[in-house]
Amino acid sequence: MSATDIARQVGEDCRTVPLAGHVGFDSLPDQLVNKSISQGFCFNILCVGETGLGKSTLMDTLFNTKFEGEPATHTQPGVQLQSNTYDLQESNVGLKLTVVSTVGFGDQINKEDSYKPVVEFIDAQFEAYLQEELKIRRVLHTYHDSRIHACLYFIAPTGHSLKSLDLVTMKKLDSKVNIIPIIAKSDAISKSELTKFKIKITSELVSNGVQIYQFPTDDESVAEINGTMNAHLPFAVIGSTEELKIGNKMMKARQYPWGTVQVENEAHCDFVKLREMLIRVNMEDLREQTHSRHYELYRRCKLEEMGFKDTDPDSKPFSLQETYEAKRNEFLGELQKKEEEMRQMFVQRVKEKEAELKEAEKELHEKFDRLKKLHQDEKKKLEDKKKSLEDEMNAFKQRKTAAELLQSQGSQAGSSQTLKRDKEKKNLGFL
Ligand code: GTP
Ligand code: MG
Repeated sequence: MSATDIARQVGEDCRTVPLAGHVGFDSLPDQLVNKSISQGFCFNILCVGETGLGKSTLMDTLFNTKFEGEPATHTQPGVQLQSNTYDLQESNVGLKLTVVSTVGFGDQINKEDSYKPVVEFIDAQFEAYLQEELKIRRVLHTYHDSRIHACLYFIAPTGHSLKSLDLVTMKKLDSKVNIIPIIAKSDAISKSELTKFKIKITSELVSNGVQIYQFPTDDESVAEINGTMNAHLPFAVIGSTEELKIGNKMMKARQYPWGTVQVENEAHCDFVKLREMLIRVNMEDLREQTHSRHYELYRRCKLEEMGFKDTDPDSKPFSLQETYEAKRNEFLGELQKKEEEMRQMFVQRVKEKEAELKEAEKELHEKFDRLKKLHQDEKKKLEDKKKSLEDEMNAFKQRKTAAELLQSQGSQAGSSQTLKRDKEKKNLGFL
């Protein structure tokens, strides 16, 4: 019997019985609250918007503090994300707040890939959580969850329509994060223009199928306010950390030569609506939606990509163990196949090399034979030459001996004639 069958049976057999007295489990919600408070909370906001649209100022205004961060230049070669985490405390509630902001968004001539670093950042946080979840020894309760709970998308107060960069980016992000679009620096736009601008933005988002975050209306206690606020989206906000004395109160405002804009005045802008919706009313829903909707989708796709399935081809439940075994066998099979392929390739290569070597050896032999023959011919030629030279030498020697003999005979004959002539000369009285 499967776990669901058992659960169903237990459910069917379950009877309501009255308690005779106080037991104490009515304190469970309080226990939960106390535990949560002692653990603390974490909330991660991503601000996406062009450089100088007032992202940092709005964060400072929202949390009533001065966060760190330098203004970006307009010369960034690409889009980057800057993340800072802060520990905040309000009453006895601790909040680990992470503010991630785009740097250089919308500053490049080619903005085609501007959304990519943002998508990659969001995915990287999901991946880190998934890796922690898949660990054998996981410590999720102390793990710093960096998944983005809310994405404030800053729209420039042009009064026209959404830029294609905004539409493309929001479209790429809407299945990964809760998008809350806001019209930044809304003091730059007149009241009537703002109404039209809001309508235009909403219709463009709808016609392009961009899913923005809707404040939940299923909880009765907040259904009314959330329902009303959904109709006010996108919120037109103004940010300022400057405090001015208005009446006898210090208020956050922006002062202009012609007057003062009060940030927290609902007649001037939607800042209070945003703060209420984002922080006071729906922070927990944003966290929950991130986990149950966006992370769940990421996890499902990732596990399916890795080959995990809940059911087999016959729609029967498929356990993790079976998936693992199937994957392991598939992997081993592939490994064997690869091994065989590599062996075949090796044998083939050896054969080729052997043939190459044989060919080279044959060539060497031929060369050797050729050289040997050449050498023999040369040797024979030299020997012939030597022989002819020796013959010549012998003939010369013979000639030389004959000549010497002839010369000696000649000289003998010469000397006897001289003697005879001397005798004759003596006789004649010359000597
Ligand atoms: P980068 O981080 O450099 O991308 O800029 P950013 O989006 O963080 O803008 P930042 O908050 O630094 O504000 C840029 C300028 O706009 C500052 O001079 C702010 O005072 C001004 N600013 C911020 N919010 C508003 C606003 O609501 N209205 C007007 N008119 N100016 C604003
Ligand atoms: Mg900034």
